Amino acid sequence: MRPAPVTPYSDRSFRPLGGRGSRTFVEMGRMSLSYDLLERQVRELLSGESDYIANAANFASFVYHELPDVNWAGFYFLDASGDLVLGPFSGRPACTRLAKGRGVCGAAANARETMVVDDVAAFADHIACDSASRSEIVVPLFTRDDVYGVFDIDSPSLARFAPRDRAGIERLVRTFIEAAPRPHPTESPAR
Ligand code: SME
Repeated sequence: MRPAPVTPYSDRSFRPLGGRGSRTFVEMGRMSLSYDLLERQVRELLSGESDYIANAANFASFVYHELPDVNWAGFYFLDASGDLVLGPFSGRPACTRLAKGRGVCGAAANARETMVVDDVAAFADHIACDSASRSEIVVPLFTRDDVYGVFDIDSPSLARFAPRDRAGIERLVRTFIEAAPRPHPTESPAR
């Protein structure tokens, strides 16, 4: 009888990277991400400052740096014409103006609900600001019933935003909305 093969890994949970059913380090990083902790950090980050632009800029930067596998994170705000105009963000320079109702952002603002696109190439009206983006989540910004903008996150990976990420990111955006109330409509950046 042949001896059992000796491997350095007796732990049955070990799966070599790249094998069937294995998880990459990036995937494991995503799965261990604590949205509870991120939410507390967002509250802390935004506490003590009332300037909307400063808080929005820090929120976008925080999301961009703390969420793994993300290549863009930022705001678009509705102007009086219904276009979405670029706000504070982190990542490469982006399209400054999305025509009313257009793109994933416009669709999310119109539908008044979060849009998750697993493959932007398969979403006919996707507006490509960065060809590296493969998947996307867009969360509308609300005060009561009024949508005044969106928060958009792009990833270079397909299907980056799982249901737990959607729920977690919606919580982070809600925390932002509570901590950084929308400026008066006559003030920039909102209508
Ligand atoms: N992809 C977006 C446009 C904004 S950029 O991704 C930053 C869309 O289709 O709405």
